[in-house]
Amino acid sequence: MGNNNPVGVFDSGVGGLSVLRRIRADLPHETLLYVADSGHAPYGGQTLEFILRRSVAITEFLLERGAKVVVVACNTATAAAIAQLRRQFDIPVIGIEPAIKPAVAMTRSGVVGILATGHTVRSAKFADLLDRHGRQARVLAQPCPGLADCVEQGELGGLRPRILLERYLAPLLAEDADTLVLGCTHYPFLTPLIERLVGPEVSILDPSAAVARHLRNRLEALDLLADRGAPGGEGYFTSGAPVPTAQVMSRLLGYSITLDVL
Ligand code: DGL
Repeated sequence: MGNNNPVGVFDSGVGGLSVLRRIRADLPHETLLYVADSGHAPYGGQTLEFILRRSVAITEFLLERGAKVVVVACNTATAAAIAQLRRQFDIPVIGIEPAIKPAVAMTRSGVVGILATGHTVRSAKFADLLDRHGRQARVLAQPCPGLADCVEQGELGGLRPRILLERYLAPLLAEDADTLVLGCTHYPFLTPLIERLVGPEVSILDPSAAVARHLRNRLEALDLLADRGAPGGEGYFTSGAPVPTAQVMSRLLGYSITLDVL
């Protein structure tokens, strides 16, 4: 395994770009391969078995392209598949999970709200996370059907995401939550809208910076950081319709990308 082999990153769709952009900012020399499984998004509407099968197939795809590490930039796929991926594959697999620990440390009202998919909040991994880090506060988990789909379609500020968010935020705000955890990688792209709806008193936590930091530490410990020199390349793949997906992904990243079919 060479230092200049790529870092593989995948998500159910475009949401994992919120993680990829942090990785790009922190590790400019790494080559990044990103898979958006947009043909099967949202994972929130799929069975756990299906998500597991897709996660294995995508990891195999990334390994065939030489990935030295795989980042599961999806809370739902992490909950459904990370244990199996770590058993089955011989490279480091890094996941993402709702940032309950920092949220509990930060809340002043003692109430934390988690926005995530139904699969994530019902998972054994989430129950374990709550058990380990959620005891010092009231942690309210709010499943958000339809919300990832808005981001998937590039709807970041229109009526549909606003109506959904008003519905999902209302019970959390009614209970005086002052700290919100974005427990799905699609949601950071809705941060401006969420900020407008909750106001300046509510803190919003996105765990992607912690994932990028963890990735750097793992690569450093394994002596696998890319050589410093030219900036790393990027490759993007999707199982969905390439033209609209490339448009949404380019908009989310703020630069134009070329997308290959998976
Ligand atoms: N982005 C994903 C997550 O972090 C899932 C969204 C979905 O496909 O339902 O959970």
